[in-house]
Amino acid sequence: MSDSHLPPAWVAVARASALKRKPLSVYYQGEPVVIFRDGAGIAALEDRCPHRGVPLSQGHVDGSHIRCVYHGWQFNRRGELSLMPGDPDFRPCSRQLLKTYLGCEKEGLIWLVAGEAPTGSPFVPEIHSTHAYRTASVSIAAPLVDVIENLLDPLHTHSIHAGIIRSDKKARHRCDVTVTHVRDGYQATYVEQHRQSGVLSRVFGGGIIKSVGRIRYPGIVEIEYHSARGIELAVVIYLHVREDEACQLIVRSYFRRGVVPVCLKAWVLFPFQWVTFAQDRRILELQHKTNRRAHTEPPAYIVTHCDIMRRYIERALAGDIAHTDEHKVLML
Ligand code: FES
Ligand SMILES: [Fe+2]
Repeated sequence: MSDSHLPPAWVAVARASALKRKPLSVYYQGEPVVIFRDGAGIAALEDRCPHRGVPLSQGHVDGSHIRCVYHGWQFNRRGELSLMPGDPDFRPCSRQLLKTYLGCEKEGLIWLVAGEAPTGSPFVPEIHSTHAYRTASVSIAAPLVDVIENLLDPLHTHSIHAGIIRSDKKARHRCDVTVTHVRDGYQATYVEQHRQSGVLSRVFGGGIIKSVGRIRYPGIVEIEYHSARGIELAVVIYLHVREDEACQLIVRSYFRRGVVPVCLKAWVLFPFQWVTFAQDRRILELQHKTNRRAHTEPPAYIVTHCDIMRRYIERALAGDIAHTDEHKVLML
């Protein structure tokens, strides 16, 4: 029984450093949006000129207005036409011609939401103020729910990331899994009897006593590795949907500050991250291609009790959060 369905929430759509003087094309829930800085903050409009349909993101920013590249129509942040070159009788009018979005910039990211201003602020993890971090941006041509399931699924790591995270050739060991709810999502806590069998754990796994995978509405994944001191390493992934179901991921890796310089930790971690990401992208895009060929929408999957997070991911993405305290055992 659900406690609540959550109201619209901020979605991270780009790194703030990607938005300079020129307008930028982004996506919000699959809708093309143009964002630009207009002096009052982040302005965000539907990315389609209502005159002949050219993307406004191909245009220019002129003061607090965006100018279409084709005939030069200009719009303000409210989506109102403020200039129509060539018409001597033109008067700016207050009729809204473009769908608008609320935009803001926080902690190096640009966030959007459609409709009324949400009551909550953009989600930034607590470790943002204590840990050092690095940010990257990648995309995967696969549906959001499948991508998130992949990020939170330990059972593919033996085969797809063999040798890096776990190994198919080594004996599996008992792992106690507890799934609980958080304010805006669900989390699985994994306590393994043995250290993970891949090389990544040998490099970074010293002192790790548990790991946590979490999904938050409207599409944020957190993966944390805890020692007795707290979080040693965490990856926060902000996901949003582009056109054709492809997903954009803004990936932030957080490192505990300590004796080993963070730049060195990042330098060691990133090649592993890049290889595992490429392995996941390959299998996800293959999965998506095969499902499209099968013409079943949504795909007809067998979801077993071992696919621990699947239904929680679907519920979290719908903003459907209910009390949960579930215990399971997996062999990992
Ligand atoms: S298409 Fe934009 S001004 Fe004509
Ligand atoms: Fe993976």
